[in-house]
Amino acid sequence: MLKTAICDLFGIRHPVIQGGMAHLGTVELVSAVSNAGALGIIGAGHYEPDWVRQQIRLTRKQTRQPFGVNIQLASPFAREVIEMVLEEKVAIVATGAGNPVPYIPRFKQAGMLVMPVVASVDLARRLEEAGADAIVAEGTESAGHIGDTTTMALVPQVVDSVRIPVVAAGGIADGRGLVAALALGAQGAQIGTRFACSQESVAHPRYKQKILEADDRSTVVSGQATGFPLRSLKNSLTEQYIELEKAGVTREELEMFGRGRMYLGLIDGDIDDGSLLSGQIAGLIKEIKPVRVIIEEIINEAETILAGLNNLRTGASDG
Ligand SMILES: Cc1cc2nc3c(=O)[nH]c(=O)nc-3n(C[C@H](O)[C@H](O)[C@H](O)COP(=O)(O)O)c2cc1C
Repeated sequence: MLKTAICDLFGIRHPVIQGGMAHLGTVELVSAVSNAGALGIIGAGHYEPDWVRQQIRLTRKQTRQPFGVNIQLASPFAREVIEMVLEEKVAIVATGAGNPVPYIPRFKQAGMLVMPVVASVDLARRLEEAGADAIVAEGTESAGHIGDTTTMALVPQVVDSVRIPVVAAGGIADGRGLVAALALGAQGAQIGTRFACSQESVAHPRYKQKILEADDRSTVVSGQATGFPLRSLKNSLTEQYIELEKAGVTREELEMFGRGRMYLGLIDGDIDDGSLLSGQIAGLIKEIKPVRVIIEEIINEAETILAGLNNLRTGASDG
């Protein structure tokens, strides 16, 4: 059995984390992931605190295993959601799209485990100092809001810069990715796109079908002009959005144009005019599977690869 510091820290069987996903990190996916021995994370996205509270309470009914909540710091409700997770005594808090340093002391006083998502060594260091318990180093291959550095380059640099456990994110969808993350010094893998395209994900079937049809070059980064670059599948929306950016329209106009597009794409299934968040690894995903099968396959494949690598070292494969 693969066991790492992340398994001990969070009390989980497998060193796999389902990244918090706006609209898709709901009770259905989160409880399935946690019940399968990995860590499920609710995505607060830009939802109001009451919606997130309901997801927490529903998830508690569906699983007795640990799970977390991802707080989008760019959300207009971020502060209220922070108060609510403190009230609800959520065990594990992940944060994305911003700097959570000011909030960490309160989470720690409440006895919570804090795992921010970062795209740079500098922020990882500052968060360790502020009291984070683990760090997700997320490479530019990832779905959603991203930084510039690749997973391959970012993870070992973050690992060398902090003492707390590091989780690799971005471009991981199978056992090969998990082993690569471990080889880079990470204690586990955070996975988004693969779980977004699972049976339990509440994403619209047309979104899942687009992921199945994607290849290695199907995603594009938009939003460079707003300072919040976003990776998603190429479609009519990304084409128009990037045209507007090139034309130099204001940040406000871009925000207006982009408003509501994630729900439209992920939940309503408008594959042309909605935002279809996806990582570059989408091209590897060829089947919609139940979460339990996805996790079992990742772990079994990782163990087979590790055994094979060991044979390579000892020359045992030569007979
Ligand atoms: C549909 C979708 C929504 C996401 N929403 C969030 C979010 O709200 N907050 C966050 O920190 N990350 C978000 N992510 C990123 C994931 O948590 C994860 O870190 C990322 O997908 C990992 O890269 P991968 O897709 O290559 O596995 C989202 C990803 C997807 C696919």
